[in-house]
Order: sequence, then structure tokens, then C-alpha cells
Amino acid sequence: MQYIMKGGNPLVGEVVIGGAKNAALGILAAAVMTDETVVIDNLPDVRDINVMLEAIAEIGVIVDRVGKHTVKINGSNIHTVQVDNAYIRRMRAGYYLLGALLGKYRHAEVALPGGCDIGSRPIDQHLKGFRVLQAVTSVEYGRVIADAKQLIGGHVYLDMVSVGATINIMLAAALASGSTIIENAAKEPHVVDVANFLNSMGANIKGAGTDVIRIRGVERLHGTEYSIIPDQIEAGTFMLAAAVTRGDVTVCNIIPKHMEAISVKLQEMGCEVVEFDDSIRVVGKPKLQSCNVKTLPYPGFPTDMQPQISVALALAEGTGIVTESIFENRFKYVDELTKMGAQVKVEGNVAVITGTNQLMGAELVAPDLRAGAALVMAGLAAEGFTTVDAIHYILRGYENFDEKLRGLGAEIDVINDEREAQKFRLRVG
Ligand code: EPZ
Repeated sequence: MQYIMKGGNPLVGEVVIGGAKNAALGILAAAVMTDETVVIDNLPDVRDINVMLEAIAEIGVIVDRVGKHTVKINGSNIHTVQVDNAYIRRMRAGYYLLGALLGKYRHAEVALPGGCDIGSRPIDQHLKGFRVLQAVTSVEYGRVIADAKQLIGGHVYLDMVSVGATINIMLAAALASGSTIIENAAKEPHVVDVANFLNSMGANIKGAGTDVIRIRGVERLHGTEYSIIPDQIEAGTFMLAAAVTRGDVTVCNIIPKHMEAISVKLQEMGCEVVEFDDSIRVVGKPKLQSCNVKTLPYPGFPTDMQPQISVALALAEGTGIVTESIFENRFKYVDELTKMGAQVKVEGNVAVITGTNQLMGAELVAPDLRAGAALVMAGLAAEGFTTVDAIHYILRGYENFDEKLRGLGAEIDVINDEREAQKFRLRVG
């Protein structure tokens, strides 16, 4: 499957943003920690979420998809704490089941996490946290095992700000005895959302959204109904798509506060950004101005928006420097962008991007989820036809991506072979 598109149309209109994938992954793991039924709403219908639902169903969780974006979960019949299948091995967030099952059953075995290839992605901080809670951890046959006779709260100092470790330790600590403190915790909106969800199940977590999270363990968690926050990165991707196509897009159903780092960069580049209560309008300008960007943990500029802003810089006036400080291998899409005529030089974790007036359509391959979305944006801004292959990456995290883009006036479609490509070319001219 590929996307094919003809660039040049400014994107115009409104787009509704779905629930946050990375919050949902933590929340689904947390949901199995009670024997009572949990109802989760605003669940994005994307591949990573569906893999997570399959994985928990396989261990005995009752998963009732009551609507496209609503799921009922009941974890009272879990029959194994071993989570291992081919899909979960390809996904990163399966590791949240380690924290969740360790908290609930004091034992968990989960296949080592895969996920997007954006650099080495160790989980030492997760395991360190579990060990502080008195669990013993090991790796056997490609599975991470965590076991605790007693799970006892403790003081965890993270060596680096890690979203995954913060959430995972929070999950286990929610049902540990005594209090846990996580210092140097991640402050991302999805960390706060998972904490809010756990609290709605009766957990006692304070300070999520700051550097220090305090968790007082409780004996059990109960059922709840919860709606997941909007996806900051999906929203940001459409905001950047408006900028690069010189369009006028309102992203709806979002929390504008979560978008600040992105809004400010777009303003610096000369776009008009208007904030409303739960939406943001981005009006692109004929000429974008370059700027420098450094990815940082929240509230800094998100690494998951780095490829998208680099596409904007490739089309801006002047030279911009992009420093990737979270992942070591997140410039793999640059080779694809240069096929379109972008001028980018990468040295280590820094990309120097000299803007050009026009990108040219090309045949591209998505190297990972966010970079894949960025290449689609580049194709929509470019002259002529572009194809983006390996779109299974994009489908991991964007729901109805092509449909939403078509709703804004983009000429884009999914094709399976050359005949369909030909048809598309004839149709759009
Ligand atoms: C989460 O990954 C997201 N994934 C990523 O989104 C996102 O890019 C990342 O956070 C940063 O915001 C999910 O939520 C499922 P980290 P995660 O632990 O938790 C190092 C997407 O496109 N580190 O915050 O894996 C690590 O190598 C994905 O949706 C350790 O060294 O990221 C990295 O350099 C891609 N040891 C840094 O910390 C550890 O034990 C931050 O990673 C843990 C992390």
C-alpha cells in the first residue's frame, strides 16, 4: 500500500483531531489493573491501539469495542501474565503491561519492545524503577521478566526524562504498598492523562505534569469511565501541513496549551496562529521564514514533530538548524526529502536545512511513523506527483489520514498497484 498525491493545493478547512495514541497505550495497560469494568472513550482507531487491544485480549481481558472510539475493558479473567506475540514484539508500548501486571499480580513477562527505528531505545530506566520497588528483573528468551514478592514504594530518580519509564513506574507504584516518588519525571500531556485515568480508578497520584510525581499506593483500583485527551502530535502535523501548503486550517477538538511549542515556532516562521478554546487556526503565508529548532522533553519542542517542522524549513527562506536531542537516529527521512530537491546536511544529531522555493514530487518510502507523515506533507506541498510507500508506519498513529487530508482539499489516495496509480494520475490531471 502506498499513498499517491498531487501537490500544490493549499489545505483549507477544519479537521477534527482524535484521541492521543500515546496516552491511550498507557491507559489501556492501566485499565487491566482492576477487576471492574472500565469504559474508555475517544480511543483512536489506529494500528498500535488495535495491537494493544489484541495483546490484552490474548491474556484473558474482555475487550468489547462498543464503538469505533469507545471500548469496554474487564480484566477480571486474566489467565496469564505472559504477553508475547508477533505484533507486540513490533510495538514499543507493550512494555506498559510490565508495570500494569507487576502492580496487579506482582509478576509480569512481556516480549522485548520493538517500535519505530529511531535509534537505540533502552528500557533500563523502567527496570531501575521496578527494582526500586523491590522487584527482581531479568531478560530471558527475548522477554523482560519482573517479579516481586512484595512491591514496596521507593524513591526513583530517572537518569533522563523518559515518558515510558515515568508511566511504567507510575503503573506499578499505583498498587505497591507505601509511597513512591519519581524525580526527573516526564511532563508530557499523556503522562498527565495516564495519571488522571489511574486517579479516576482510585489511585493516589499527585504532581503529574511536574518534575516530581508522588504516588501513594492503594490496595485496589476500581472501574471508571474516561475520555482520552486529544492527540498533540496529530494536531501538530495538521498545523504544519497548513503552513507548508500555504493553507488555512483549523484543528478542532484539541487542547491549545499542549500545542504552544509548535504554535510559537509557526509564528516565528511567519504563519498566523489564532487560538480558540478548543481549536487553533493556522494561516500559512506565501513565504515561510527559517528558524532553529531543538527537540526537548515537554514543554519543549516535541521530537515527534521534528520531521514535520524540517519539511517546513526545507521550504522556508534562509537556513535553519534542527537539533534532535531525544533520539539518535531520527533523520533517516532526510535522504527521501533530498530526492525532492530539499537541501539538508546532517551531522550527528544536527540537520542544517537551507530552504528552497519549491520541492519536486518523487517516489518516497516512509522510514517511520512521524517521518512518514512528514513526507506526505512534503508531497502535498511539492510540484507534481509523489508516492509514499510503507504507509503501514503512518497507520500506526494516524486515523483516516488520507481521508482527513482530502477533507481539507488535498489530492491524495491509497493505491495498491501501478494501475491504481495510473487511474489517480488520469483523474487529477
Ligand atoms: C515515547 O517513547 C513515545 N512513544 C514516542 O513516540 C516519543 O517520541 C517519545 O516518548 C518522546 O516523547 C510512546 O509513548 C509509545 P522516552 P518512549 O522513554 O517512551 C532514552 C511516536 O511516534 N531512554 O521518553 O520510548 C531513550 O532512548 C513515538 O508516537 C533510556 O535511555 O521515549 C530516549 O533517548 C515514537 N532508557 C529518551 O530516553 C530508558 O529506560 C526518551 O525516551 C528509557 C528511555
